[in-house]
Amino acid sequence: MGASGTGILHPVLILLLGLGMQAQAMTTVTAMVGDTVTLFCEANRDGDLSLVSWRMKVSETDNEQLISFSPTKNAVTYKEVSGYKDRIIMNKDYSLNISNVGIQDEKIFSCFTLVQSDINEVPVSLKIYKKPSNPEIVELAAFLEEGKLQEVGVCVVNNSYPVANITWQHNFQNVDLSSSANDRVVTSEKGYYNTISSLKYTSKKGEGRVSFTCIATYFEDQDRTASKKSSPVTLFVHYKTSKVSLQVTPAQDVEEGTNVTLSCSGDGYPPPDAFVFIKNGEDKPVSMDQYELINVTQEDTGEYTCSQQDNPDIKDAVNITVHYLALTVNLSENVSKMVGENMTLECIAKSSGTVDVTLMKKNKVFPNPFMVESLQYVHSGSYTCLAKIKEVKEMKREKTVIVRVEGKPRINKLTKKVVNNAKVISCVVEGFPKPTVQWSINGTSPREESVKDKKSQWNHRITVQPSENITVTCTAINPHGQDQDTVNLTAMRFKEPVDETLEQDPLDPNNKNDNSKGNDQAKVIVGIIVGLLIAAVIAGVVYWLYKKKSPTSKTKTNERGTADEIKKINKGDNNHTSGSSAV
Ligand SMILES: *[C@@H]1O[C@H](CO)[C@@H](O)[C@H](O)[C@H]1NC(C)=O
Ligand SMILES: *[C@@H]1O[C@H](CO)[C@@H](O)[C@H](O)[C@H]1NC(C)=O
Ligand SMILES: *[C@@H]1O[C@H](CO)[C@@H](O)[C@H](O)[C@H]1NC(C)=O
Ligand SMILES: *[C@@H]1O[C@H](CO)[C@@H](O)[C@H](O)[C@H]1NC(C)=O
Ligand SMILES: *[C@@H]1O[C@H](CO)[C@@H](O)[C@H](O)[C@H]1NC(C)=O
Ligand SMILES: *[C@@H]1O[C@H](CO)[C@@H](O)[C@H](O)[C@H]1NC(C)=O
Ligand SMILES: *[C@@H]1O[C@H](CO)[C@@H](O)[C@H](O)[C@H]1NC(C)=O
Ligand SMILES: *[C@@H]1O[C@H](CO)[C@@H](O)[C@H](O)[C@H]1NC(C)=O
Ligand SMILES: *[C@@H]1O[C@H](CO)[C@@H](O)[C@H](O)[C@H]1NC(C)=O
Ligand SMILES: *[C@@H]1O[C@H](CO)[C@@H](O)[C@H](O)[C@H]1NC(C)=O
Repeated sequence: MGASGTGILHPVLILLLGLGMQAQAMTTVTAMVGDTVTLFCEANRDGDLSLVSWRMKVSETDNEQLISFSPTKNAVTYKEVSGYKDRIIMNKDYSLNISNVGIQDEKIFSCFTLVQSDINEVPVSLKIYKKPSNPEIVELAAFLEEGKLQEVGVCVVNNSYPVANITWQHNFQNVDLSSSANDRVVTSEKGYYNTISSLKYTSKKGEGRVSFTCIATYFEDQDRTASKKSSPVTLFVHYKTSKVSLQVTPAQDVEEGTNVTLSCSGDGYPPPDAFVFIKNGEDKPVSMDQYELINVTQEDTGEYTCSQQDNPDIKDAVNITVHYLALTVNLSENVSKMVGENMTLECIAKSSGTVDVTLMKKNKVFPNPFMVESLQYVHSGSYTCLAKIKEVKEMKREKTVIVRVEGKPRINKLTKKVVNNAKVISCVVEGFPKPTVQWSINGTSPREESVKDKKSQWNHRITVQPSENITVTCTAINPHGQDQDTVNLTAMRFKEPVDETLEQDPLDPNNKNDNSKGNDQAKVIVGIIVGLLIAAVIAGVVYWLYKKKSPTSKTKTNERGTADEIKKINKGDNNHTSGSSAV
């Protein structure tokens, strides 16, 4: 529809144009306020038309003439009808234009014609419509209270014609709220209608926030409606706290010296912020939503309650336990004991909680208490007690005790061995503090080779090539005393008599009755293989020499030949022993 909004024929009313009946079929024309409307003249104009005029019904019986036209004189006559003269104009087809229409123009107009002596008059009804202003929600409640029938706000729709209706939406859903809405219509000074609808609503718990929209429905035409929506408004539903809960950070079981925060919260909306904290029923309330215990001690252990300030019956309680954990060891930090002494090492833990104590030495766990009868050097070391409690995960204590087992030196082994045409003397010593070892050969002190120490024992070694029978002494000394042992060595040119101090040479393939360990056996096997290989090579060489017509060789290799012997042979000394080990 254009701004003109004119020319809507009302079909229902166009009827009864039956035989002989002078029926009045009235046309209705609609327009919006401010439009220019055109009313067509439907009166008889066929024949000798002498007058056309437009009249307006002012009462049941009275019509007032607005404008008339005489075709014979070609003259337009305006009547001085207030509010019309400037707004009306008659078109060439005798239709009437009324500009800038308003609700005061909602009247019945008629076109009157005079053809010769026949009078004809046909009425036209003019209906005016006006769009209202945008709906607005005013006097909005600050919030809604749960379960209470309460005024939400007032929707105002101004300046509509005819009356506009107001409906409400709740959370964008068309809900029939008409029973709780109360509508009022007032007329503005221009004759338009203002519709005012106030809404009442009962909110429910859990709704949280509720939005409301109001909608104005108005006529744009006789049978056509349109609507306008207000901006939505949001209201929060407030409700009382029915439950409070008390939270503890970091935990209900804590270590002494830490800080503990008690936080209280309620399930109401808006959330309550004033609470009363009470410890062990004591009347020492603190009104906040948080209560902090700083640097807690045993005395802070107890039951804490929090309740809403204005309702002490709604409350929550927690038990807080402040734990302690003390760890002691029955021995002092550094302890020295003599070999053979008894020792008891015990970790003693005292705690408010469930304690778990572990005694360890180098990741190996020992029973607690750890009791030893007759201490050995292997018992030396660093023992660690570790105590934990189940209730507080990160709470633990640790104590370390260093145990030193001391004793006078003891020579565990003094042995001789023939290796590479020399004699190696080993002296294995134990004792703590570490003994110093002195060697003596008939009063002279030979140079010592450095050897890797074994566990809790120390190895010392010298190599000699005696030309006479000699006696070797190994002496070990520490602050607790000394030990000494001697071994007799024969001169290189004699064979060493077999006694308990003679270790077998692993290179000698004949020596199978040795008591050395698996490692040594492997070495022996390797030695045998190497020896056999060398023997084979030598045999080959000898055979080759023999073939080269050198039938005389200085020495005969025997079946026990070793690398040592080859060397000796090459050196040319002691060749009368025909290749024996010569010890
Ligand atoms: C009367 O109004 C119609 C529109 O409704 C317009 O087209 C026409 O020009 C108007 N007549 C005059 C004489 O202004
Ligand atoms: C509606 O009209 C009333 C009365 O004239 C006025 O007080 C109010 O401000 C108007 N409201 C709107 C939304 O136009
Ligand atoms: C307003 O409501 C009345 C009564 O229910 C109804 O007669 C009228 O047609 C409605 N108006 C609109 C514009 O819907
Ligand atoms: C405990 O609180 C006090 C005071 O607020 C603070 O100085 C201290 O660092 C806190 N201690 C811990 C372990 O957080
Ligand atoms: C914590 O309390 C203990 C015992 O009351 C006190 O010795 C210590 O200095 C306190 N520590 C702090 C950081 O306040
Ligand atoms: C324990 O012995 C170590 C080294 O043996 C030493 O550094 C430490 O000071 C000793 N501690 C005490 C308390 O004697
Ligand atoms: C070590 O303990 C054993 C058995 O309990 C006891 O017979 C012995 O006398 C104790 N030795 C010492 C030195 O206390
Ligand atoms: C070493 O001493 C022993 C007796 O103690 C003696 O028989 C031997 O000849 C001595 N050897 C040397 C090289 O002095
Ligand atoms: C060493 O030889 C001497 C005599 O020469 C003898 O008295 C002593 O018992 C021998 N020692 C060992 C350990 O065989
Ligand atoms: C050295 O010892 C060997 C073997 O024990 C013996 O046969 C020899 O007679 C001894 N020589 C001297 C000079 O004592």
